Amino acid sequence: MFGPEGPTLRELAVQALSSVEHGYDLLAPKFDRTPFRTPDAVLDAVAAGLAPLGPFTDGLDLCCGTGAGTRVLTGLCRRSVTGIDFSAGMLDMARRRVPPAEGPGIAWVRGDARALPFTAAFDLVVSFGAFGHFLPRELPGLFAQVGSVLRPGGRFAFPVFAPPRPARPGFWMLLGFDTAMRVRNALWRPPFVMYYRAFRLGTVLRELERAGLTVESGVLPGFGRRADGSPRARLVVARRPGAARTGQPAAGSVNS
Ligand SMILES: C[S@@+](CC[C@H](N)C(=O)[O-])C[C@H]1O[C@@H](n2cnc3c(N)ncnc32)[C@H](O)[C@@H]1O
Repeated sequence: MFGPEGPTLRELAVQALSSVEHGYDLLAPKFDRTPFRTPDAVLDAVAAGLAPLGPFTDGLDLCCGTGAGTRVLTGLCRRSVTGIDFSAGMLDMARRRVPPAEGPGIAWVRGDARALPFTAAFDLVVSFGAFGHFLPRELPGLFAQVGSVLRPGGRFAFPVFAPPRPARPGFWMLLGFDTAMRVRNALWRPPFVMYYRAFRLGTVLRELERAGLTVESGVLPGFGRRADGSPRARLVVARRPGAARTGQPAAGSVNS
């Protein structure tokens, strides 16, 4: 379905009938051959947007998958970079694919983003392509967790793309995908939570503020504007209030 090296339709169907965690375990060896891996153009644009806010000391890639965002962090953070994901299969691929960095040490941690096994040990947390796995009602808890692992002055950053308008084919594709997922989840256990249209910018900004983070949202250059002039892509940056300072090395069950 995604070329000779990507997963077949049958493999995707088996994965989609699993839990999120096990589905990604199964998909992991072929994940980088799918469009689900965040494209380099997005990673590069985010790296360029964050560079002027740095340098950073300790970075965390939330829901790191095979390490696309972790690699970005190695160029932004001086001391340590940690990737966390609950899929052992994805972490295994990340360990193989992301080479040890010359600067910061890299650690891979298996854990749930909704219960992070860290203290306030990071001055930068990023996340790419994973928010569709969280229901809107889970966002307050998720953002509270992120806030708790940020040092005072630390930042949480991620790209957000404007949803396609109803006149565009993409709108109907995403609507069709989300509808199929809702039907699947009504009929089948365990659920596979992945909804493209549930992560809304307005709700996200409000929940970040409610989690005690100060939102600084900018345009992500290079992705153009929609007909109404609004940017197609934004870089959301939310800051934990307080003065920035370098803290203790990142804590957690680290295995690189
Ligand atoms: C679409 S992949 C994105 C991977 C990578 N960030 C990228 O951009 O290529 C989503 C990742 O989120 C992870 N994930 C989903 N829910 C999670 C949770 N509650 N805790 C930790 N990881 C989670 C999955 O295991 C998967 O690796």
